[in-house]
Amino acid sequence: MFSKKQKNVIIDDRLKHIAFIMDGNGRWAKKRLLPRMVGHKYGAQNFKNIVKYCFEMGIESVTTYAFSTENWSRPQAEIDSIINLLKEYIEVVKQEEKVRIIFIGDKSNLPSDLARIMIEAEEITMGREKKLYIAFNYGGRAEIVNACNSLIAEGKTKVTESDISSHMYTAEAPDPDLIIRTAGEYRISNFLLWQCAYSEFYFAEVFWPDFDKKELMKAIENFYTRKRRFGGLNKDEE
Ligand code: FPP
Repeated sequence: MFSKKQKNVIIDDRLKHIAFIMDGNGRWAKKRLLPRMVGHKYGAQNFKNIVKYCFEMGIESVTTYAFSTENWSRPQAEIDSIINLLKEYIEVVKQEEKVRIIFIGDKSNLPSDLARIMIEAEEITMGREKKLYIAFNYGGRAEIVNACNSLIAEGKTKVTESDISSHMYTAEAPDPDLIIRTAGEYRISNFLLWQCAYSEFYFAEVFWPDFDKKELMKAIENFYTRKRRFGGLNKDEE
């Protein structure tokens, strides 16, 4: 199935799910002698634009890393500003017609008003066509442990890969085809550890607030030059 043409890139079934590690907001701000919070503000604005482009182009699922389980060690003012930006963005998504928001991560120990807002947004947007996964209070290892514990609670004594996949927070989406990290860092940082087994990785040098549509298209064009083998061989290599 082919969808809308973007420049010379046609999004097809090979690219259904893109995930982003939005790195470099703090450095973007520091470079401009601005507080880190301003970097997050521009980062959140950029995220809004990038999600819009992805869905307009025909991408079915987008996942982003908004807040890791380790990010609680940041100064409280920075944590509060990220939470406020998230709350503002939730209001925007609720008004969208096609975007379904799904929070991945542990909601059990979040401030209760935030958890309530998240659950309400998931309920309001349920059934919409495009899936937007926001990782908040998320850790990839914890997600795998959580899946195993759910399986044990269901009475399983032996599990398969598909059992674990079906208990991941992103079970309703295919695994990410492309994972993009900005700011010249080449790490996975505990993000989608199970789901990234065969993902293609793309690392951009620019800080997240500068990762614009042109940068996105560069990443997508690069993705389409990759030969994905999923552990096997392509027809022309047999
Ligand atoms: C990484 O940059 C970014 C974060 C830890 C937070 C990302 C949050 C937002 C963009 C705002 C809220 C999110 C949404 C989905 C609206 P960094 O602070 O680690 O940057 P640095 O490595 O340059 O310090």
